[in-house]
Amino acid sequence: MSKTQLNVRPIAGALGAEILGVNLATDLDDDMFMPIHQALLDHCVIMFRDQDISPQDQIDFAKRWGGLHKHPFMPGLNSHPEVLEVVKKEDDTHTLGGDWHTDQMFTAVPALATMLYAKETPPAGGDTLFANMYLAYESLSGAMKAMLADARTVNSYTKNKGRAAAMKNDYSDGEPEEYVHPLFRTHPETGRKTLYLSYKGVTRRIDGLTNAESEPILDFLMSHATRPELTCRFSWEPGSLCVWDNRSVMHLAVNDYHGYRRVMHRLTIEGQPIKVV
Ligand code: SIN
Repeated sequence: MSKTQLNVRPIAGALGAEILGVNLATDLDDDMFMPIHQALLDHCVIMFRDQDISPQDQIDFAKRWGGLHKHPFMPGLNSHPEVLEVVKKEDDTHTLGGDWHTDQMFTAVPALATMLYAKETPPAGGDTLFANMYLAYESLSGAMKAMLADARTVNSYTKNKGRAAAMKNDYSDGEPEEYVHPLFRTHPETGRKTLYLSYKGVTRRIDGLTNAESEPILDFLMSHATRPELTCRFSWEPGSLCVWDNRSVMHLAVNDYHGYRRVMHRLTIEGQPIKVV
């Protein structure tokens, strides 16, 4: 049992907490990690401010949760291939992750968690929104839960195949294009049920239904899950670091800072095959 008491400050009613007084470059022994891990399970997304960490420090912190995930189509830093540098430049209009999604639902074994570290941030904007998918599930009616209890979603992101092929990496070698995941998944550590979803560019349809049948259900579930009272919003500063649990949150990068640069270092932690419980 850990002896360390963390200073954890929730940032919204639904989810999200800032952890104060931890230096991730120097303080990370087992005693410190245990309550941080518990805070992630309790709050679904945790934030640290004013960190000054190297890519290796970020890797060391991420490895506390498990192995690191190799992104199927995005290259990492030359020095640390596990760390992706996510850059939106002054003249870019597109941002990575600008729709509500759960990381890597378009793979067989989606990431357990994602860790994002802010290197450069715009003077205002560029926040990240998170939605609590436990609450999204729990606030559905009993009839809706019963109707969709055994539903599976079909997930893919076909654009990735082209990018993977262009990079000649492993992902281009004959992987199937579609992955089926439970619509309601059970979190393997907390045992709580969640709604497991991404925007329609990834979560294409409910398995076995026609598009016409499936689309209104998925549209409803997305608007239900992203109601403001089920979300929180994090404003970044250089040195901010966030960890989110992809088994219990969706997230969205707000694309509202055209003309400014935003540079983030991103890591994903390997998940385990999703069990249907
Ligand atoms: C992502 O979807 O992983 C990126 C989130 C962000 O840049 O805020």
